[in-house]
Amino acid sequence: MASTRHFLTLLDFSPAELNAIIARAIAMKAEHRAGTDQRSFPGKVLGMIFAKSSTRTRVSFEAGMTQLGGHAMFLSPNDTQLGRGEPIEDSARVISSMVDIVMIRTFGHDIVETFAAHSSVPVINALTDDYHPCQLLADMQTYVEHRGSIAGKVVTWVGDGNNMAQSYINAARQFDFELRIACPEGYDPSPDLLTANRDRVSIVRDPLAAAAGANLVVTDVWASMGQEAEQQARETAFSGYQINAELMSHADADALYMHCLPAHRGEEISAELMDAADTVIWDEAENRLHAQKALMETLLLAAG
Ligand code: CP
Ligand code: NVA
Repeated sequence: MASTRHFLTLLDFSPAELNAIIARAIAMKAEHRAGTDQRSFPGKVLGMIFAKSSTRTRVSFEAGMTQLGGHAMFLSPNDTQLGRGEPIEDSARVISSMVDIVMIRTFGHDIVETFAAHSSVPVINALTDDYHPCQLLADMQTYVEHRGSIAGKVVTWVGDGNNMAQSYINAARQFDFELRIACPEGYDPSPDLLTANRDRVSIVRDPLAAAAGANLVVTDVWASMGQEAEQQARETAFSGYQINAELMSHADADALYMHCLPAHRGEEISAELMDAADTVIWDEAENRLHAQKALMETLLLAAG
């Protein structure tokens, strides 16, 4: 199984491969809109394991696999043996013997790594506590569609040093941009990840200073899934870490802003930005569909 390709973080693909997936996603989006038949994978089955809630990820993977001619199967720990303690290793062996590709949304990143190590088919990380690489494919596609290449640009992250922030650190490396992270003390991304990427990534505590001249400003919820009990403490800690019109006035005049959604208007993002007529946030959400179709196509073709 060592030769099976997986997509657990952005580092599993080379920069050239990632850019090829984004180019393919843009092409597949145009084909889809033109009504082109994209059923290149009849009979292929995607197993979708969700240990956390989802709207965009579930809809985009299930719709995407159907559009590719295959079938997607929703598997919840609540009603599979995964929730009753069957080891990940055993589950991976069994599930991968029956499906062609697997997508997992779960808590610990080690769970997707263990699953992938024992899977005979490609495994896609659809969000862990540490990374959300599929969202980055959609975000990078959205930037390219609206502004062209992100290489050499400045990206500002405002908020928690969470799974999305850590995926942006990997993206800075793979897509070659400067990343400034504005997060309150105590909510930094992994120190190891910061150290490994110190040539491109810096912590700038003041959100307005971090946003100065930025080409892209990104945020996410203050309390991620699994941190619901910390909501109140985080509302205090993150006060002032909101993207809004005032913050965007410090960015480049052509700057875009993004949010992976779901969003909390009035917390990490103002209602005004969420509801602006020219926001790209809805394109960003839709692009999950196109980017993941390109990703699944790439992985299925590599698996032969
Ligand atoms: N952005 C994202 O992954 O959304 P869902 O949690 O709705 O899948
Ligand atoms: N950081 C958020 C992203 C949701 C798509 C979470 O993990 O809940």
